[in-house]
Amino acid sequence: MTEVERAAELLRAGELVAFPTETVYGLGADATNPQAVAKIFAAKGRPQDHPLIVHLADAGQLDAWARDIPAAARTLAAAFWPGPLTLILSRRPGVIDAITGGQDTVGLRVPKHPLALELLREFGAGLAAPSANRFGRVSPTTAQHVRDELGAAVAMVLDGGPCAVGIESTILDLSGPAGDQPAILRPGMITAAAIAAVLGQEPAAARAPGTHVPRVSGSLDSHYAPGTPLELVSSDGLVFAVRNAIIRQERTAFLASMAQPIHHELISWRLAPAEPEPFARALYASLRELDALGCARIVVQAPPGTPGWAPVLDRLRRAAY
Ligand code: TXA
Ligand code: MG
Repeated sequence: MTEVERAAELLRAGELVAFPTETVYGLGADATNPQAVAKIFAAKGRPQDHPLIVHLADAGQLDAWARDIPAAARTLAAAFWPGPLTLILSRRPGVIDAITGGQDTVGLRVPKHPLALELLREFGAGLAAPSANRFGRVSPTTAQHVRDELGAAVAMVLDGGPCAVGIESTILDLSGPAGDQPAILRPGMITAAAIAAVLGQEPAAARAPGTHVPRVSGSLDSHYAPGTPLELVSSDGLVFAVRNAIIRQERTAFLASMAQPIHHELISWRLAPAEPEPFARALYASLRELDALGCARIVVQAPPGTPGWAPVLDRLRRAAY
């Protein structure tokens, strides 16, 4: 039996299997089995009303999970799947409440990782898979991160190497009434501009209050946080932050794209990539490593406010909360 065959068998038996995707590692369970899905919530320590993304082998399975699918959803699926885009659609009757958080919508995506796709094909149905971390903590981007954090709670971890994208998928809500503007609920590396180029319509950044707003746990303010307090500072503030750490006699870890200005035994300096894609790819592993140093704080140089950096800045702001 291959590893993937064994993984599919464990999933059929209602066990949890962590698997790699292009974004982060997912904690997978049979999306039609309420007992299996309950194990996800227990392993993560996640509140019950937070919905889960269902992962599919291909867009042909959309109709098994969603109804009243707008043309825009099929267009986006054709353009971006497999890839880091989750579509929120009206759920089909029969999709269990544990998946949808009791809402009338379901989140669906086809991940772009050969091992994930092999597993989904072998399993033959939808896999519920949130990021394979404890609730509110940094998402895992290697198999070892999952083992470190969830240990015996998972029956198996498929190792597909480090994730290529490094931050979670873009979530786009298409479940509004016909003619409604699609809304980005969580920014990701599939940007508003890329979506607009395909749809010929700019997605909304967030829905106006009072209109239909699905719950997204990724939109809680304190999310993706390391245990060590994290501070975001401008490039001008970095030198000040270094001096401050030395004056206060506090061991401090820095993640910055500029070179270390002052060398001192209390300062750990990690160079960050100067472009959004490599920055995102390395971000969560860097935060875990800096967290493990046991410093008084982690100081991160804030990236530019340009659109390309928006998804990275979103995760950093939540980590700093
Ligand atoms: O890249 C990703 O999306 C990763 C990989 C493993 O696929 N998954 C991931 O799952 O980030 P999770 O559960 O950590 O975050 C999924 C987000 C949650 O914030 C959840 O609330 C939201 O998607 N979500 C899922 N279904 C939804 C729905 N029907 N309506 C609104 N939000 C939904
Ligand atoms: Mg998550």
